Amino acid sequence: MAYSDKVVDHYENPRNVGSFDKGDESVGTGMVGAPACGDVMKLQIKVNSETGVIEDARFKTYGCGSAIASSSLVTEWVKGKTLDQAAALKNSEIAEELALPPVKIHCSILAEDAIKAAVDDYRKKHVAALTN
Ligand code: FES
Ligand code: FES
Repeated sequence: MAYSDKVVDHYENPRNVGSFDKGDESVGTGMVGAPACGDVMKLQIKVNSETGVIEDARFKTYGCGSAIASSSLVTEWVKGKTLDQAAALKNSEIAEELALPPVKIHCSILAEDAIKAAVDDYRKKHVAALTN
């Protein structure tokens, strides 16, 4: 199967690889796995607590080229977005941008699930902080 130029570019030059301290209260962490193939993706956001805007993002993905490209793309897209905007991101937008073939759609779903999980984690931390 031929990968699109954008997949190859993100795979060869992944943006924002790495991780933030999970315990940092400005950080939300999403870790998801794809049952179909066993790939695992960790995506983290760093949020400005005053503005609610995502200032930075990191990922670590143990998976195929499309999963790596999807997570790299998402870390670029969410910077400067609000939590609501980031949580509204659709896998179809990722798949379209990267021109993913049908068998690789689940790789983009993994990235959508990971960003949603990261937003949820950040929100849970902050609800907990308010009620403590
Ligand atoms: Fe091979 Fe995902 S199935 S890396
Ligand atoms: Fe499973 Fe890409 S093949 S995430």
